[in-house]
Amino acid sequence: KDGVYKFYFDGEWRKSSSGKTVPIINPTTRETHFRVARSCTQEEVKKIVETSKAVQKSWAKTPLWKRAELLHKAAAILKEHKAPIAECLVKEIAKPAKDAVTEVVRSGDLVSYCAEEGVRILGEGQFLVSDSFPGNERTKYCLTSKVTFTISAFPTGCVRESHLPIPPFNYPVNLAVSKIAPALIAGNSLVLKPPTQGAVAALHMVHCFHLAGFPKGLISCVTGKGSEIGDFLTMHPGINCISFTGGDTGIAISKKAGMVPLQMELGGKDGCIILEDADLDLAAANIVKGGFSYSGQRCTAVKVVLVMESVANTLVEKVQAKVAKLSVGRPEDDCDITPVVTESSANFIEGLVMDAKEKGATCCQEYKREGNLIWPLLLDNVRPDMRIAWEEPFGPVLPVIRINSVEEGINHCNASNFGLQGCVFTRDINKAILISDAMETGTVQINSAPARGPDHFPFQGLKDSGIGSQGITNSINMMTKTKSTVINLP
Ligand code: G3P
Repeated sequence: KDGVYKFYFDGEWRKSSSGKTVPIINPTTRETHFRVARSCTQEEVKKIVETSKAVQKSWAKTPLWKRAELLHKAAAILKEHKAPIAECLVKEIAKPAKDAVTEVVRSGDLVSYCAEEGVRILGEGQFLVSDSFPGNERTKYCLTSKVTFTISAFPTGCVRESHLPIPPFNYPVNLAVSKIAPALIAGNSLVLKPPTQGAVAALHMVHCFHLAGFPKGLISCVTGKGSEIGDFLTMHPGINCISFTGGDTGIAISKKAGMVPLQMELGGKDGCIILEDADLDLAAANIVKGGFSYSGQRCTAVKVVLVMESVANTLVEKVQAKVAKLSVGRPEDDCDITPVVTESSANFIEGLVMDAKEKGATCCQEYKREGNLIWPLLLDNVRPDMRIAWEEPFGPVLPVIRINSVEEGINHCNASNFGLQGCVFTRDINKAILISDAMETGTVQINSAPARGPDHFPFQGLKDSGIGSQGITNSINMMTKTKSTVINLP
């Protein structure tokens, strides 16, 4: 009634005792569209963790098939409510209308897949005998199973303090369920901290889990400023596992978290290496899709093209022709390029463009900006002394570096502090494999743009791109512990 979205705890929607709120600015209109409760007090967080701990014990004893059943129910409810949730994504993060619906449907599928994968992998254990190790008789039998006694925290909404704010606003629903569903099937309770931009979509998603009938207190969702409760939550001794997607706040979290399993995805500068024998039409199509989908606001976006000089002119012409066809405008109209998430993001992107222009990069299109809306821009002849050669714009601006050898391309990618994904376009599979082996990234795509999905594939970053591996199976395993029982024979 008061227009402020409440936080979720103990099966109820509650007002924060702080009474403060955070505005959610619509990136298109740049006006306040929603308000969410501004962080719970530390006392409230303490109570949430204590309750989660108590509820987790009975949840872990709930038969696996029953846990799976509830997840399937939540997935179905989520899909039923795809329209209102997608509408929030359009208003909060300016996601193009069709992509917003796709995100919700993909999330429902992810939840169902988690339920199916969970019953399979958690239903298995190991049986070992002792006499295979030197010096042992066959007097010990070891039984292992996967158990949980954890509360997981997913502070997905923290903001970079020192640079461009890049919280994982880009998939507030999908990135949240990619943590929630593995946790639940594995028997964890959880505390979700969604990003501020996207918080209302995330709250709607949480409501779908509420409607599915999960036990009270099993799922909690706190909104507000990560800087106010983030540290308290991640350092709380009751939190046994942290999964984070976002900016370099993740590095700070990893230093403070202590001895708990960590799973983090912290951005990327995914390189796209184009060899002389590449199918240039295929490469151009993937560069545009990979570089400009959701206006480049994806960790896995193509963020630098490294093309062999001999084919560079042809490739740039093909990419340019496709960029010219991208529609630019409102997310409600399902335009390809929509306003970037905040004004500070737009300013940051503009700074990178100006730096590159001043240092001699060639703008393939005229640089144009209105408010948070930046027209797609290909920057050719980028050199390593330009900031955009190394920094993530998280916007619709793509640098092209011309290279004279494959090694030059690989060296550029490996010199980055990021190591999320990369891609290579060539008709020679042997070369592609050798390049994949040489690239210091979590994944290399051959003849396609980088991407996290399908969501059951392993997804991991090296160096500053993260820690641990995601993807449904890896996440379930990461959120469980191995328990051994050894039978000692006389
Ligand atoms: O930016 C978030 C990251 O997880 C990318 O996901 O599906 O766009 O490759 P996707």
